[in-house]
Amino acid sequence: MLEVSGITTRYGSISAVRRVSLHVGANEIVGLIGPNGAGKTTLLNTVAGLLRPAEGEVRLEGRPVTGHSPDRILKAGLSLVPERRRLFAEMTVVENLRVGGVTVPADERAERLDEMVELFPVLKDKWSTAAGLLSGGEAQQLAIARALMSNPRILLMDEPSLGLAPVLVDFVFELVGRLRAEGRTMLVVEQNATRLLEVADRAYVLRTGEIAAEGAASDLLGRDDLFDTFVGAARDSQSERR
Ligand SMILES: Nc1ncnc2c1ncn2[C@@H]1O[C@H](COP(=O)(O)OP(=O)(O)OP(=O)(O)O)[C@@H](O)[C@H]1O
Ligand SMILES: [Mg+2]
Repeated sequence: MLEVSGITTRYGSISAVRRVSLHVGANEIVGLIGPNGAGKTTLLNTVAGLLRPAEGEVRLEGRPVTGHSPDRILKAGLSLVPERRRLFAEMTVVENLRVGGVTVPADERAERLDEMVELFPVLKDKWSTAAGLLSGGEAQQLAIARALMSNPRILLMDEPSLGLAPVLVDFVFELVGRLRAEGRTMLVVEQNATRLLEVADRAYVLRTGEIAAEGAASDLLGRDDLFDTFVGAARDSQSERR
């Protein structure tokens, strides 16, 4: 479904991502974990077309999309839930959803909106509320719903549980499980490494811009060295919460 080969992305002279290769197969949930500043967001933004790589190639279902505009990549079937949501604050909930569905034919858009209400009932009550007035949890649900409006072949999520209360963190992970049951393909970045590895099939560990480890999620869960060195406090803070 998605193939990333030898991607390097720079900010000026700094390479935030260096020769990273990864792949996501159809119906797979793949995790991307690693400490702050490792380059996770840079990588997702490069794949989604928001940043242009200095080197390397991105392929979607076999077709090269490297350096294509975010619109074209969305039309090709890849949608991103960006870090910190990036909603259109002045626009209402339904207007944000319509923006997410611009690539969808008009006759299908109403159907997609109905599906989003079913998946995120809280949005129905806030239909005409400006996105900027939503609570953190509501806003995150809207960000995910907006990305799903295009009915993507692959969904990228950048820290969907960031800043949410524990009950909403649970909701986000349940949602990932439900989307998985629907057969969706996902590449997910999370600080909650343990929780992510519990729902993912495979994962990559990124450290200072490079892939430091990869494997089956269940194998990575057992690797204390990874948690100590790369992910640091993520496992501890999670187990304390439980
Ligand atoms: N717009 C930018 N300009 C310059 N440097 C940047 C920019 N955005 C990120 N960086 C740098 O690139 C590196 C990777 O950042 P990135 O945001 O991709 O990391 P991350 O893994 O997503 O971190 P976090 O877990 O904190 O979200 C960091 O050193 C960061 O300071
Ligand atoms: Mg990030």
